[in-house]
Amino acid sequence: MALPIAPSDGVGADPVRHVPEPSVERSLSAISSEVTPARSVRERLLGGGRSGVRADRPVLVLHDVTKQYPNGKVALNDVDLVIPEGDFVFLVGPSGAGKSTLIKLLIRDEVATRGAVVLDGLDLARLARRHVPKVRRKIGIVFQDFKLLPRKSVWENVAFALEVTGTPRRRIRPAVDRVLALVGLTAQARQHPHQLSGGEQQRTAIARALVHDPRLIIADEPTGNLDPLISWELIQLLLRINELGVTVLMATHNADVVTALRKRVVALEEGRVIRDEVGGAYHRMD
Ligand SMILES: Nc1ncnc2c1ncn2[C@@H]1O[C@H](COP(=O)(O)OP(=O)(O)O)[C@@H](O)[C@H]1O
Ligand SMILES: [Mg+2]
Repeated sequence: MALPIAPSDGVGADPVRHVPEPSVERSLSAISSEVTPARSVRERLLGGGRSGVRADRPVLVLHDVTKQYPNGKVALNDVDLVIPEGDFVFLVGPSGAGKSTLIKLLIRDEVATRGAVVLDGLDLARLARRHVPKVRRKIGIVFQDFKLLPRKSVWENVAFALEVTGTPRRRIRPAVDRVLALVGLTAQARQHPHQLSGGEQQRTAIARALVHDPRLIIADEPTGNLDPLISWELIQLLLRINELGVTVLMATHNADVVTALRKRVVALEEGRVIRDEVGGAYHRMD
């Protein structure tokens, strides 16, 4: 079953569809409204006022999502997932379970074969290609291998994320300075990636993901290349960012961290959600 998609509330033939208030979302409005104050905290600390965004709308809704790759492999099978604003979600499951595929659907690297992927009210399956950059700006993404530009300094790596979206120079400097302070890298701003530790490189990547004030931070195994102590520091940073009101979705194999923190855990196995538990552990407890 597809989500009821309303006609665009934009003008003319705008292909961006806005999902009005589908019933699948209604049960979540109570949860979402609890986190409404966090938005203003985030706006205060990260800057970038955001008008016209509905606070009672989940950041992300996956409805009956199936993804089959051209070679026939079904990587996701009838996945349902609703993430309200302000949530912190661990996405767990063995290698090959479909975690990265799910994340690729969110950044529209891949398109679902069936079902709806609705990010901040926009259905990604029905989104015209020219609107993809606009949707990507709603997301900050962090990868296992950092993906920093080696010839740019920490500061330039972060600034680059704003330059490519045409942000005026006068806005770039304060935004980059603020986000580097938030991740604790002010002193390393002029260094290049090869001069940094793994943890510092990943904090640079987090700063870059945050600098355009996204609604959702997605991290795909962000601690996969870091030792346990540094992994903990990184998770603490993501928790702090979440406390500022940014929704976080983190795919991870790090069982110790997931079990210790008792956040919401969504477990995938062979492309299906086998568990979605608030306050969960890495493994099922019963
Ligand atoms: N581009 C692709 N083409 C075909 N199969 C793919 C592709 N990407 C991933 N897969 C397959 O889809 C399944 C899920 O992969 P993935 O989403 O990377 O899982 P995870 O991130 O949980 O390890 C795996 O069986 C993988 O081999
Ligand atoms: Mg993966």
